[in-house]
Formats: sequence, C-alpha cells, structure tokens
Amino acid sequence: MSSHFAGDVTQAEFDSLLDQKGGPAVIIHGGAGTDPDVDPTPILAGARAAAEAGLKVLLAGGSALDAAQAAAVVLEDDPQFNAGTGAALTSEGDAELDASCMDGTTLRGGGVACVRTIKNPIIAARHVCDGTPHVLMVGQGAEAFARECGIPVYPNALLVTAKQRARWEELHKLAQIEGADSVRKKLGTIGACAVDAKGRVAACTSTGGTVYKRPGRGGDTPILGAGTFADDHEAAASSTGVGEAILKVQMARAACVYVGQGKSPRVAAQDAVALLKERAQGDGGIIVAGPDGRLGWAHNTPRMARAIARAGWAKALAAV
Ligand code: GLY
Repeated sequence: MSSHFAGDVTQAEFDSLLDQKGGPAVIIHGGAGTDPDVDPTPILAGARAAAEAGLKVLLAGGSALDAAQAAAVVLEDDPQFNAGTGAALTSEGDAELDASCMDGTTLRGGGVACVRTIKNPIIAARHVCDGTPHVLMVGQGAEAFARECGIPVYPNALLVTAKQRARWEELHKLAQIEGADSVRKKLGTIGACAVDAKGRVAACTSTGGTVYKRPGRGGDTPILGAGTFADDHEAAASSTGVGEAILKVQMARAACVYVGQGKSPRVAAQDAVALLKERAQGDGGIIVAGPDGRLGWAHNTPRMARAIARAGWAKALAAV
C-alpha cells in the first residue's frame, strides 16, 4: 500500500532525506496499526507536531533523551494514537499503559508497565531512569513511585476516549461469541528517537498495548532491547507492532546492532522488520536514528504514521 505524504515529497525523496547525515534530528512513529480507512490529514498533522516538538528541544540545547521524551508526550496526549489518552482498552475496559526510555550515551534506561492512573507514562519511565537504580517498575509499585515524584493521580476514565469505548463495546460483544483471544488483534504504539549534533542518541516508546489484552499483560514497549533501545556506538530505535513477536527477536536491539555492523538506519529498519516476520511471524514497524544523523523506518503493515524533523527545515515531514 502506498503511503500518504504531507507536502510534495515522493517516496524516493523521502528516502534520500532519511539518508541525509548530520544531527540534530528527530524521527517519530504513531504506530504500525494505523487504520488504512481513516482520513490521513489529522494523523499527519499529529505526527509532524510531535517531531517538531522534539526538534525544538534539541535546538534549545536539550539532550537527545529530553527531545525524544518531548515528542513522545505530544503523541501520548494526542487521542488519535494508542498511548496515553486514547489508548486501547483491556478486556475489562480500562486503559493500562506501558512505556520506556533509553539514553544512548550512558545506557541509562527506565520503564513502567501496567500503569493505570498516569497521564504520561513516558514521564514516569524517565523518573525510573533518572531517579532509581531500577530499569523497570510495574503496576501499583510504579504508580506509588510516580506519586513520590510528584506525578498526580490521573483518573483512568480520562484516558478513555469515546472512540476507544465504542470499539471496546463492539469487541466485548464479539468476544462473547468468538472468544477473547480472537479479538486481540489490533496494534498501535508511539515512539520517538532523537540524535543531537554530537551524535548522542536516545529513544522513547509508549503504548496502551494490544486491543482487548488481558489485564496485566506486558508487551515489548516497556522492555529495553525489544520496544526501545539506544547506544551511541550503534543507534536508537523504537518498535511498534505485536509485542509478543517483537520480544522474541528483540527488534529494537537487532536494528541497532545492524547499524553497528555498518548498515544505514534505513536498511537496518527494513532488516529488523524482515527479522520480525521471518523468525517470529510478527507484524509491526520500527524507527531508527543513527549517531551520524541518518534515520530509518520500515513496517510490514498497511500503514505506519511517521515523521522526521531536521535542523534547518521549516517544518517536519510526515507520512502514513
Ligand atoms: N507493541 C505494543 C504491544 O504489543 O504492547
């Protein structure tokens, strides 16, 4: 399926922009489960806004991790995407969120899983990264830690949009007939990777997980190496797609290793998605940012919302 592009940019031109060297740059995705039948216009606008928010942080002297986080917060707050507000719901009809971040210079990382009362789980993940000796915190412990960090309780009902509630009602009816496992199909996640002018990289990823998942189910998103990875010696990557498959091939890490072996981020992204399909029969996508400023993206689903922003550009370029 051919992509929709914001602006007059062809696929070939987009590829050459990905291969352009030099930071600062930001690349984001809005999930590989983007519905092919919806109007792409607001999706493209949301993707661009996120990439631009990340680049703004870099241009103001912020770190790559600050930039990736800023982009991720914009996507979490945009109800079009499956993360934060607008997240897909569990089989019990609640939002249950996962997120992680990683800094490529220090290899510091943090994640939260199965949190239900945090508006921006990527900020809680950052607190785990910066403020604890841990890498992953889950459930009530993660929420208690978030409160200690000053993150207020956010009612779960406010994370649930009318669209997700209607979708849940429909699936809930279907699950009574076909069984719950057969309706746990749709994918979606958001992610951002950033590279600064000195080649320092970082990545952030956040999701509501798979639609109608069991409460307590964790996917790839909060796991370093699977959903998120960053190492200045290789690259930064953020995955999207079927978490159970992504976990098996450690897709974010695999893409970064490919860059370390000399592949461009664009080819590394394609090879990581091929690995996902060949070894784990998974569907999904990935974004990659190399320390030399080259970027990459790939997906084997009909659509993946994505955008790039580079220093010197008037605005970000998006596709879906
Ligand atoms: N990739 C998101 C999830 O499976 O939870």
